[in-house]
Amino acid sequence: MNAALTLPLDTATLRADFPGLVTPNGQPWHYLDAGATAQKPQVVVDAMARALGRDYATVHRGVYSRSAHMTLAFEAARRKVAGLIGGAEGEIVFTRGATEAINLVANSWGPANLGPGDRILLSRLEHHANIVPWQLLAGRLGFTIDVCPLTVDGHIDLDMAERMITPAHRLVALSHVSNVLGSVLDVPRAVAMAHAVGAKVLIDGCQAVPRFPVDVAALGCDFYAFSAHKLYGPTGLGALWARAEILDAMPPWQGGGAMINKVSFDGTTFAPAPQRFEAGTPAITEVIALAAAIDYVEGVGLAAIHAHETALVKTLRRELSAMNTVTLFGPEASAGIVSFALDGVHPHDLGTILDEENVAIRAGHHCAQPLMEHLGVPATARASFGLYSYESDIAALLRGIERTRRIFG
Ligand code: ALA
Repeated sequence: MNAALTLPLDTATLRADFPGLVTPNGQPWHYLDAGATAQKPQVVVDAMARALGRDYATVHRGVYSRSAHMTLAFEAARRKVAGLIGGAEGEIVFTRGATEAINLVANSWGPANLGPGDRILLSRLEHHANIVPWQLLAGRLGFTIDVCPLTVDGHIDLDMAERMITPAHRLVALSHVSNVLGSVLDVPRAVAMAHAVGAKVLIDGCQAVPRFPVDVAALGCDFYAFSAHKLYGPTGLGALWARAEILDAMPPWQGGGAMINKVSFDGTTFAPAPQRFEAGTPAITEVIALAAAIDYVEGVGLAAIHAHETALVKTLRRELSAMNTVTLFGPEASAGIVSFALDGVHPHDLGTILDEENVAIRAGHHCAQPLMEHLGVPATARASFGLYSYESDIAALLRGIERTRRIFG
């Protein structure tokens, strides 16, 4: 790299919190795949171990004190999630992940609100998790899916969306941050145009929530989904926020224990939201660990994380632009994500050679095949930053790219 980089976060201290950031032989591991899943700070590992160990008990069912304590901690975590994104605790549904959160909206809100003659608007850059549930539903219910194109620099083209949207549109479902390009959606503008025709707005916030402050009240959307594991928390857990009056009107999706009021063969009645949408024993330990992750991230500060990742993106894009065999995708102002291609080298080959240098990137279609088609490539290489990323990661990546260029001549 040309010049030393001054970063907003003290990564020397922060990196020590993350046991996963070293190789088995004690070398730094240059983990540039936070977009797929973030490494976990020790406090999250400890919180999960405590919840699985000395504190372990079920929630919402036990009459014994350990269960009552666990229930209090579980519901405190729900309040913490609500506080993180500016919602109310009754508006937070715990799900198995963001994918399940979107499937919940599709399968509960969808059949009650979508049918023949109706339309929904997605975009070309959506993750498969915000495409396939709607396709499955459209096949059943007979509504039409419209796809908003992208601007040249990889944003969802809201000028085009404005021209495409009609009173037949019942839902607009878009990514807050593209998991491939890092482009950030102007959510309030998308919401204003959707609400003007009476459409609801679902935002896939997976790549946004770990990267900058999110406030659903300020955004004005109706549904917001994100996953815990990208927010330095555990896998197998996500959250759906939905505006209270919308959630209250949504019918159950999955049936089972915990989501009912009274079960009888003469007819079953259901619990109020959010419990109505949490059938079965929930991800108790994961929810407790997510609360620890939120405390940790809020301690570091999401505004500082954003500034930190922005500085890293700027540096990496500058260095890659200086190599005349690299194609960069996405906008300059990307939120923590840089996708690129090296001329004549498949991203999988690059990823494999980088792995030999202890550098981990994601190479592939990133669960965004319609976007790959738009970009005219089968795959990209993607470096995605986290709060622990630092200049050495970029230097190691650039060294690995140079080595790959030499290998491929
Ligand atoms: N959606 C995750 C990614 O972009 C898995 O890598």
